[in-house]
Amino acid sequence: MILISGEGSNMAAIVRSARQERWAERFGARVTAVISNKAEAGGLVFAQAEGIATAVVSHKAFATRELFDTALAEAIDAHAPALVVLAGFMRILTPGFVARYAGRLLNIHPSLLPAFPGLHTHQRAIDAGCKVAGVTVHQVTAELDHGPILDQAVVPVLADDTAAALAARILTQEHLLYPRAIGGWLAAQARAAEPAFSPS
Ligand code: GRF
Repeated sequence: MILISGEGSNMAAIVRSARQERWAERFGARVTAVISNKAEAGGLVFAQAEGIATAVVSHKAFATRELFDTALAEAIDAHAPALVVLAGFMRILTPGFVARYAGRLLNIHPSLLPAFPGLHTHQRAIDAGCKVAGVTVHQVTAELDHGPILDQAVVPVLADDTAAALAARILTQEHLLYPRAIGGWLAAQARAAEPAFSPS
């Protein structure tokens, strides 16, 4: 289950990796659905072309964050996912929603957390004079961009970097890091599910 808000390039990278690395055969895992809070999200077209179920739960249709999160959880739970992946999903989720998926809710954030939580991470790294920047895959907790880190990738910040140039360099790494982190999570789940001993 992957949640998106826009282009969904991270979602697409995950879908491709699931196929190329044979997650279905190896882990019994597949991308069951792509849900967006924006009907115009380009990633929905990609998912539909891949034959993946899609849904839109528009945050504009709900008076409160809690009502939206409840509707989103209902759409998610219809697929009973083992893992919920936030990929360019631009909504802050309520503590109740995060608690519902604790331990199986991942996010990708375009900075080397704990540095630069929140928005405009690339410009902030440039303004701070950072020599390196990067991206973090982490478990989502109630505190924004602060959960346990699964993996990170580092890129150089170049002397004349613009936020757009740095974002593009980081996005390339995101497309490698997220599938690798999810593959690792699935492998760990599969190992944990193995019997303590293999019956003779
Ligand atoms: C990416 O920069 C990612 O770091 C952030 O959302 C942006 C768009 O991601 N989370 P995508 O192309 O929609 O996957």
